[in-house]
Amino acid sequence: MTMISTTLLIATTFTLISGAALAQDAAAAKILASKSACMACHAVDKKLVGPAFKDVAAKHAGQADALEKVSARIKSGGSGMYGPVPMPAQAHLKDDELKLLAGWILAGAPDK
Ligand code: HEC
Repeated sequence: MTMISTTLLIATTFTLISGAALAQDAAAAKILASKSACMACHAVDKKLVGPAFKDVAAKHAGQADALEKVSARIKSGGSGMYGPVPMPAQAHLKDDELKLLAGWILAGAPDK
């Protein structure tokens, strides 16, 4: 086997593995979002009480610190960024749950 095909094989395997991990994260995030009642106020692609998760992703596109900022905002809540209605603080969520939700939302809240 040549060097190039070995490298390709490794690269392909890695892509497959990380793709599967992402799908798992998305599924876990979706369940957590439903369990945490986020979906009472949010939808993926339309505005309900809160902004569509796709709009949140668009607003933060290209910001290097988006994951930290959005995690912190989910935890503390806030208002004035998308309209007059405030988002209630979600202080019951743990840091890894906040990161999982924020990462999923910033990716456009994919189904999987
Ligand atoms: C009672 C309704 C309500 C619930 C429940 C709610 N949100 Fe929100 N959310 C809002 C509103 C309203 C805003 C817009 C606030 C603003 O304009 O600044 C918002 C904003 C956001 C934002 C944008 C933050 C940013 O920095 O751009 C994210 C992300 C978010 N919510 C995620 C969540 C998640 C995750 C949950 C569940 C753990 C949740 N929300 C539960 C109403 C809600």
